[in-house]
Amino acid sequence: MQAKEQFSCGVVVVAAGRGERAGSLSDGPKQYRPIGGRPVITRVLDAFSTWPQDKIIIVVIHPDDEALFERARGLVSKNAEAVRFVHGGPTRQLSVLAGLKALEGTGITHVMIHDAARPFVDHALLDRCHASLVGGAEAALPAIAVADTLKRSTPDGTVAETVPRASLFAAQTPQCFRFAPILAAHERAASSGRSDFTDDASIAEWAGMSVALIEGSVDNVKLTIKRDIAMANEKWNRTALPDVRTGNGYDVHQLVDGDGVTLCGIVIPHDQTLLGHSDADVALHALTDALLATCGAGDIGDHFPPSDPQWKGAPSRIFLEHAAKIVRDNGGTIMNADISLIAEAPKVGPHRQAMRENLASMLGISLDRCSVKATTNETIGFVGRREGIAAIATATVVYAGQET
Ligand code: CTP
Ligand code: MG
Repeated sequence: MQAKEQFSCGVVVVAAGRGERAGSLSDGPKQYRPIGGRPVITRVLDAFSTWPQDKIIIVVIHPDDEALFERARGLVSKNAEAVRFVHGGPTRQLSVLAGLKALEGTGITHVMIHDAARPFVDHALLDRCHASLVGGAEAALPAIAVADTLKRSTPDGTVAETVPRASLFAAQTPQCFRFAPILAAHERAASSGRSDFTDDASIAEWAGMSVALIEGSVDNVKLTIKRDIAMANEKWNRTALPDVRTGNGYDVHQLVDGDGVTLCGIVIPHDQTLLGHSDADVALHALTDALLATCGAGDIGDHFPPSDPQWKGAPSRIFLEHAAKIVRDNGGTIMNADISLIAEAPKVGPHRQAMRENLASMLGISLDRCSVKATTNETIGFVGRREGIAAIATATVVYAGQET
């Protein structure tokens, strides 16, 4: 066991195989086929990129697959732009080596090496890997105790013997290592002409590293044949819960004598104006809060303190676009935004369409997903006395979650 050291992690996802056993000739490489509507490799990258530990992700791809990879990377729910790729080699072993070399000089202390064909890797497994490495393991191998009785066969297809299974395990990925020794072991294996290692733990064993067994995950199967992909697709469709979240926001600004109000970015001539530090666009402020609420990101005041002089007179579009970016950075897709304005005057109706178009442009979503409504307060209360305008907003966002 090594002494505890600082942990900084690289991830190598090997995806340069041809997937011949899964029928790549007719359907393309297995790692780019959809399961539950998303490519297998996108599922893998989602799992790693949403895992909260800092990491550098390198994907090793086949030179023929660049377009497939770009498309799949574009669908990754978080920090897709940070995922880099390099080209692989003719064997898995050489593809891993290409990935490790791409991480050289980045300062990482550890690396996790994962098959792109294992889309059911989950955060609990990554946490176990992480715990083993920070606990000092030189290498950590997720594995499952073999459940079936095992037989060794003779060349003529009869049973030669029953193999005791008590200490036998099936190896999975991600296989995890201290970076320098596994890179050295891989380089030594390649330079001594060995290219027959089917996983990285066997190279570590060959190089004399100590490999700790950790609990794998029964779900973390490798998709190998066509049927595995069909079953993975069914499983995903059955178990994935849509991560739909709703946020609400409320805001009020005071009306004083003036020449117009700004609502949803539209300036409406009026004999009053809204009082506030920024342009006092009460509608956009309420919607900003609603969006931030969907990912627990606080409220508008946390991000744009009213005490900060730089927001004096600022267009509230800045606040809304910032909230939309936070949502997207957290893996969210904005599904709709709905604002109710409560104002005695001015009349909102003639400006509704322009307001909706503004929202669609600021949020980057279609017009049918943007709604603006208005009501008076029947002349009662502070709104009824034309002392202020209130806005209530609701936003719905779908986040790319882990399967349950
Ligand atoms: N792999 C790789 N480079 C290779 C061969 C394999 O990066 N030259 C990757 C695969 O893309 C896969 C993982 O290693 O994610 C495990 O390999 P395997 O399941 O054997 O995939 P393929 O080699 O693609 O499939 P097949 O053996 O059926 O052709
Ligand atoms: Mg293979």
